Amino acid sequence: MSILVTGGAGFIGSNFVLDWLRERDEPVINLDKLTYAGNPENLKSLDGDTRHVFVQGDICDRGLIDRLLAEHKPRAIVHFAAESHVDRSIHGPGEFLRTNIDGTFTLLEAARAYWNGLAGDAKTGFRFHHVSTDEVYGSLKPSDPPFTETNPYEPNSPYSASKAASDHLVRAWHHTYGLPVTTSNCSNNYGPYHFPEKLIPLMIANALAGKSLPIYGDGQQVRDWLYVTDHCSAIRAVLDKGKVGEVYNVGGWNEKPNIEIVNTLIKLLNEFSPRADGKSYSEQIAYVTDRPGHDRRYAIDARKIERELGWRPAETFETGIRKTVQWYLSNQDWVRNVQSGAYREWLDKNYADRSVPA
Ligand code: NAD
Ligand code: DAU
Repeated sequence: MSILVTGGAGFIGSNFVLDWLRERDEPVINLDKLTYAGNPENLKSLDGDTRHVFVQGDICDRGLIDRLLAEHKPRAIVHFAAESHVDRSIHGPGEFLRTNIDGTFTLLEAARAYWNGLAGDAKTGFRFHHVSTDEVYGSLKPSDPPFTETNPYEPNSPYSASKAASDHLVRAWHHTYGLPVTTSNCSNNYGPYHFPEKLIPLMIANALAGKSLPIYGDGQQVRDWLYVTDHCSAIRAVLDKGKVGEVYNVGGWNEKPNIEIVNTLIKLLNEFSPRADGKSYSEQIAYVTDRPGHDRRYAIDARKIERELGWRPAETFETGIRKTVQWYLSNQDWVRNVQSGAYREWLDKNYADRSVPA
């Protein structure tokens, strides 16, 4: 028995692979294109572990997926691979449509052909799990209840529109062809190996480098934060006990405005790694031009997965964020290694026209 994971060298995917091999003794075939966001260093601790088979490749490559399925005969596919950063989708949506829509379509077609060729328990037990996001539901008003699985889809960014399209394909492949799929829609993750283009790792990296902490707009946008290993355990629960064709919302019951997140990071950095001049990192805060079409609030109602599968997050925000800051402080080489020329080009592109002070 084995599972095929796509995007397992990215932030959540690599945490999932590491977590899976800690919790289970079942091999993982890890298919990842290694875009700017994929980093084999995240998986360094698995060097020599024969349960982890890494394959560099594209989910749009049907021939490759067919070969992997035929060779390894996985009992499940867990599909993380995606272009994931909203700001990048605004600057260049094409790659988002290619990977998130065409890539998911290619994977579904390959999975369907493979599953049709299975028989008996292998066929009944097979699962295609699609990892998606709360952003497909759009933006909440302050008084709205959190998103449930029946909220209408109202994606607002090229990223969320491409994820919404992929969710619809997964749903259709179940209803039309009977492919045994499950989908999870999760809120904002944070934790180790988070690429420093996203809010939390960017703020930590910039603070330590003495750079500005760029807050988009008024900083009052609300996200619902979940520690990444809790997302991993939720996906394991869906694989183990989830009902075919069902959608499960996953969240941390942790709604916080961005400015509060940044202030928490500042407090922890002031405690663990104070500035040489004795001043607070809050000196580095800079309000900058807002993200176009910026969603105001996301929040997840995670009662279905708790009720039906018994899943609840293990970390509170307070424990998770302390661990995260400590991880970044202990792994500054990891951050330095991902800050390549391409990373610097991205910072120039995204922040130059937001008038961020140096
Ligand atoms: P990430 O950007 O850190 O990693 C994506 C990974 O996919 C990278 O390793 C990249 O190399 C790989 N990849 C990209 N295009 C590929 C292709 N064409 N073929 C094969 N591999 C490819 O993303 P993440 O934050 O780890 O997100 C993983 C998944 O979880 C995504 O589907 C995302 O939509 C979803 N999600 C993310 C969050 C979050 O807060 N980060 C929350 C909910 C859902
Ligand atoms: O909600 C789940 C989603 O969370 C995932 O589907 C996405 O893949 C993931 O990237 C994340 O999307 P967000 O846009 O919410 O995450 P990001 O870290 O980019 O931004 C979080 C908030 O912080 C958002 O309101 C924008 C704001 N922000 C972000 C950056 C990078 C800033 O204020 N300044 C910044 O420099």
